[in-house]
Amino acid sequence: MFKYIINGGKPLSGEVNISGAKNAAVAIVAATILCDEPCILENVPDISDTAICSKILKEMGAEVKYTNKNTMYVDPRNIRNPVVPDELARTMRASSYFLGILLGRFHEAFVAMPGGCDLGDRPIDQHIKAFNALGAKDEIVNGTVHVKADDLIGNQIYFDFITVGGTINAMFASVKSKGLTIIENAAKEPHIVDVANFLNSMGADIRGAGTDVIKVRGVDYLKGITYGIIPDQIEAGTYMVAAAATKGNVLIKNVIPKHLESITANLRKMGVTVEEFDESVRVSADGPLMKTNVKTMPHPGFPTDMQPQLSALLTIADGTSIVTDDIFDNRFRYVGELRKMGADITVKDKVAIIQGVEKLKGAPVKATDLRAGAALIIAGLSADGVTEIGDIYHIERGYECVDEKLVELGADIKRVYIQSKDSIAMGG
Ligand code: EPZ
Repeated sequence: MFKYIINGGKPLSGEVNISGAKNAAVAIVAATILCDEPCILENVPDISDTAICSKILKEMGAEVKYTNKNTMYVDPRNIRNPVVPDELARTMRASSYFLGILLGRFHEAFVAMPGGCDLGDRPIDQHIKAFNALGAKDEIVNGTVHVKADDLIGNQIYFDFITVGGTINAMFASVKSKGLTIIENAAKEPHIVDVANFLNSMGADIRGAGTDVIKVRGVDYLKGITYGIIPDQIEAGTYMVAAAATKGNVLIKNVIPKHLESITANLRKMGVTVEEFDESVRVSADGPLMKTNVKTMPHPGFPTDMQPQLSALLTIADGTSIVTDDIFDNRFRYVGELRKMGADITVKDKVAIIQGVEKLKGAPVKATDLRAGAALIIAGLSADGVTEIGDIYHIERGYECVDEKLVELGADIKRVYIQSKDSIAMGG
């Protein structure tokens, strides 16, 4: 298996280009199925989650070609069967989008219960509530969700709480339905707006994305387009925190600064310098890092997907910080790994109390999920000594060429193959 070996303590400097947004791309790549003609997608991040999406499209009968590693051509017209291959569906959370998309196009869908980062229970009851409101029936047979509708009629959908996936799936299921659908208590993340912009570019009629009320008037036909995916606010935030953690000076390019506002605000509270330009931000830190208290919130609040990374930074800030993350059941599984590096963190329910220490020390650790892995990279970059990170497949689900981008910034990080003990035992 592959590991990252990081020799820490080197300040990051130089420039890094941010890739397309993972959480927009996984939805938009899948949503090409709704189109009545071929599409071209640009700025698609080269990560395993988007690779799985395109594999699913191909296995379902679509023609998928990469004209370069970040540009793909999709012709979905030969897809006949609204069934997603089980083993692929179970590998990521985004496979739930195929429910709304296939329902929207075929009025039926068969998708295995989604997988993805283990952050505790991640039901899809709100997605199902949206489908039911439009006239679909649902059942779960042997772990596969089956939704079916004789017809999809626009309706009011009120989410009991804010859900990114539920909001996106409600748009997918209603975009070709009959009449008006009003989605209330909608999520407002940048990727919600990007998905709506993609669908509208094809001829959909979606208004209000980015607010808590989204109106969708069903249309009959979606034309082929070329569409560029927005930059990844979480990848950008991760490099911002890495620059601060290593007392570096980094220009982070190809970003939308407005999407980074809550991250910028928290870094500034910690004494980090953040300069904003049209399509880039420069992050530098040379003084002491100050403690801060953070509670994750739906956009435009501080994103839960940045909580592990900021917590890693807070482990070397002066004083005691409090981080609250109640978006998921358990988003603190990385804390045990940071403790191996000398971090002083205690977690009680959904609150982490972080007592800053002078320096972390390199140690062998394991990524427990995507953003936990990013936090361990940040910790390793700032620590004294060598950090070895295992299970990096989690990280490579959402970060394009992270080792190469960090080497460009002066980090001493290598991606190495280490034969696991059991494969040696089996003579592997
Ligand atoms: C999306 O997950 C992202 N994943 C997550 O990013 C992100 O953390 C999350 O939104 C919040 O921003 C993708 O876009 C592929 P939710 P999603 O529906 O859609 C509960 C990353 O690191 N809930 O907003 O699953 C749910 O369990 C990943 O890039 C229900 O109970 O998030 C969670 O506790 C991790 N029932 C909360 O709501 C439902 O029907 C928020 O979930 C739906 C959600």
